[in-house]
Amino acid sequence: MMRKTRKAKRAKTYQYTSQPLGWNLSTPVTYSKEDAYVQTTRATNLQVNSSLPFNAEPVLSVLVSNLITPVTEYFVRNHGPVPLPTGSGDQMDYQFVTELPSGIYTRTLRQVMDGSPVARSEATLICAGNRRNELSKIIPIDGVPWDSGAIGNAVWGGVSLRLFLLSILKPGDYIQDAHVEFEGADYSPEEEREGTPGLGFVASVPLHHILCDMENRILLCVYQNEMPLTPDHGWPLRAIIPGFIGARSVKWLKRMTLRRGHATSYFMLQDYKLYSPDVIDEPSSDQWQNLPPIMDYPVNSIIGKVERTDTALKVAGYAVAGGGRTIVRVRVNNTEASLIEPNPYTWALWTVDLCANTTEKICCVAMDNAGNSQPTESVWNIGGVLANGVDCVTFKNKI
Ligand code: MTE
Repeated sequence: MMRKTRKAKRAKTYQYTSQPLGWNLSTPVTYSKEDAYVQTTRATNLQVNSSLPFNAEPVLSVLVSNLITPVTEYFVRNHGPVPLPTGSGDQMDYQFVTELPSGIYTRTLRQVMDGSPVARSEATLICAGNRRNELSKIIPIDGVPWDSGAIGNAVWGGVSLRLFLLSILKPGDYIQDAHVEFEGADYSPEEEREGTPGLGFVASVPLHHILCDMENRILLCVYQNEMPLTPDHGWPLRAIIPGFIGARSVKWLKRMTLRRGHATSYFMLQDYKLYSPDVIDEPSSDQWQNLPPIMDYPVNSIIGKVERTDTALKVAGYAVAGGGRTIVRVRVNNTEASLIEPNPYTWALWTVDLCANTTEKICCVAMDNAGNSQPTESVWNIGGVLANGVDCVTFKNKI
């Protein structure tokens, strides 16, 4: 019997409008459907998986050649259009709002950044849908068809979110089960379909997680690799939540709200959940209601490059451990790979030389410092998320 796949989400057709790229700023920003997709000319090196909205990933061999991923090689995951705020055009004039039980605080980036040094955080973002294409070969899955490139490592710069919140929190704001909800300024077709038009992309993180970030890695972020964020990566302001799936690092951040319990947006309630392999149709509310949202991600590794020289088969790739854990080992066939800079919150690149006449299948498997390792096969699920099976390639000797 043919298993059914999730009903296709009907993509609405939006017109590109040609607007000049004068990035004007002010919040809040509202978009009509007609100008939802702003025309941005992208001279991209990336492989485009969908153009409206724009979703693209780098060539794997290039990805694993740089410990810090250049912005031009950094995957882009947009659920909707890139918003085009209006205003002065100066990133530092951008205003965002924080709603606490004690009051509403409106700040410009200049106000929060003036007088304090930029906080820097090297962190790897990985999309939960990375490697979805492998799962789709088992049973087709709707969603962006990602290969293994929906991941990148960058030096993010901005303001410590912990310190920012501590500067405005009052004693009465420490409510039970407090979460910080982040809302993007983008128009979300998914929210409109769910009957909440006007709501942007929303995710939330427990307040205690932010307040325990004593190393100030969680950021109100304005720079990527020492340059202002680009429009695709959230200019002028985004959240960076290292160790969690990329979907929690909300781009084009316009509002933070302190609330009881996690956000009830589509992206926290229904999407970005790990459904059982038995769920083969659109999940019902019974199925999603009691399932917690995915926050951190499992250990993973990928072979990105195989080159044959006269003396060796040179294999290179990436390995990543979620939740602030660290990669301690990558084995390729039966050989231990050399790890390049394994750290909590960042990926490790790895290289290994195998015997020059290796013709067999090459497989890599990583382990993190909690002893977690990859399953032999990725586990199929209807959302196509968290695929992390042992990665194998067959290298044909062309010599
Ligand atoms: N924030 C907003 N406002 N809208 C989005 O569509 N996509 C999320 C997250 N933040 C998204 C967002 C997802 S699913 C991921 S994986 C990361 O952004 C991707 O960040 P990047 O495009 O800078 O690589």
